[in-house]
Amino acid sequence: MKHNLEISGQTNLEEGVVDREVFVSEDIYQQEIETLFTRAWLFVGHESQIPNPGDFFTSRMGEESVILVRDKAGVIHVFLNSCRHRGMKVCRYDQGNTSLFTCPYHAWTYATDGKVRGIPQYQELYAGVLDREKWSLIEVPRMVNYKGTIWASWDENAPEFETYLGDAKVHLDQALDCRDGRPGGSEVIGVHKWVFPSNWKLASENFLGDSYHNPSHRSVDLIGIGPSARTGAKGRRDNELELAKHVWISFAAGHGVHSAVQAAGAEYIAQFANDPEIEEYFRHCHNERNARLGDNARLLPFTGTIFPNTSYHGRQPRNLCVWHPHGTTETEGWRFFLVDADAPAKVKDFLRRFYMRYSGPAGMTEQDDMENWLYATRASVGTIARRYPFNYQLARNQAELHPEVNGLTVRGRVTTKMTEHMARGYYRRWRSYLDGADWDELLGQNDPRFSNAKEAEE
Ligand code: FES
Ligand code: FE
Repeated sequence: MKHNLEISGQTNLEEGVVDREVFVSEDIYQQEIETLFTRAWLFVGHESQIPNPGDFFTSRMGEESVILVRDKAGVIHVFLNSCRHRGMKVCRYDQGNTSLFTCPYHAWTYATDGKVRGIPQYQELYAGVLDREKWSLIEVPRMVNYKGTIWASWDENAPEFETYLGDAKVHLDQALDCRDGRPGGSEVIGVHKWVFPSNWKLASENFLGDSYHNPSHRSVDLIGIGPSARTGAKGRRDNELELAKHVWISFAAGHGVHSAVQAAGAEYIAQFANDPEIEEYFRHCHNERNARLGDNARLLPFTGTIFPNTSYHGRQPRNLCVWHPHGTTETEGWRFFLVDADAPAKVKDFLRRFYMRYSGPAGMTEQDDMENWLYATRASVGTIARRYPFNYQLARNQAELHPEVNGLTVRGRVTTKMTEHMARGYYRRWRSYLDGADWDELLGQNDPRFSNAKEAEE
């Protein structure tokens, strides 16, 4: 199906405007489900959620339910959560452990490797007709375990996940390895799930690095409960921020991040715990991280979105969040909170409390953000409102390709002041999916902005 240019006719990314129909049109939403969520790499869960054979976590890819499961041989799979007989959801639990998935409808059973294990009255009613080998659960063809995070794609021809990440890889690494004493040593200590009345892209684009919305969080800054605001915004003493240069980066495949580059030799010690023992642990992580990541350890991750709908907070609170589409004006947010698996219990407990206060449906910053997204959605569905596009013109034509910042080469299109170029790049790729483009184009390999330093951004 082709992108309906007529109804998104005001979208012009060279001008920095996006038609509101992109956020409210049923037709465009269906095209997203069919052309984008069936191809892009999507985050489905974390290996720490399924440590033992038979462990499962019921996740989603777009609108579809999938089961992330470790089979009895220890191999991780992602299956469509739908019975091959008549489509019933074979697993209706959020997570657990099982040796078999038994369909509640007519009781076909499937082993944890997806194979049909039992069919009631098979000999009397199906023998010689039904080949059980052909009726296994549908397995998502592409799956990768990247530093403990599990990603999947329905497109057999999708590029390797690391190719898909491109230059965004070092930034996602920061979020995944940030505090750990060892790479990939994170564990999920909880998942918050909630539904809010907004288009899913408003949340995704916010985490590309929309620092311009910081006035929304003024109350959090004033009372000093932000990740680094030990004494509140005015009395901030956090050396990591004072010595860092902020960068906003757009990547060829549509990802975007807000990060900062710390000066060489500066210390990166989180100072928001007000507890010497916890800060000592963070100091230990700082040293481990420096030893492991070298110069890239100077990147301080704030937020990012891996195209299309997986975002992260890379500092504290450290988490991955997925913005599952639920129709044009509804989104289901899932936040996976990460801690170092080998952190002391006191650190884990401190971070658990901090996460709940900061993020998730009851977290102070999340509430600020959600109000913006849901009112922006609601105020855009009207017949009149739809006639007027959104503005994404902030800091146009200012990005540089692979510049040096604080002595570190930062790959991607980069600005050192806040901008909306990540969102412009995101919607360019979004459009490529809806146009049915090939993977070269989806990865931005033909996009001159990422191969020619002199090319004007837009
Ligand atoms: Fe599952 Fe019939 S729908 S056994
Ligand atoms: Fe925010």
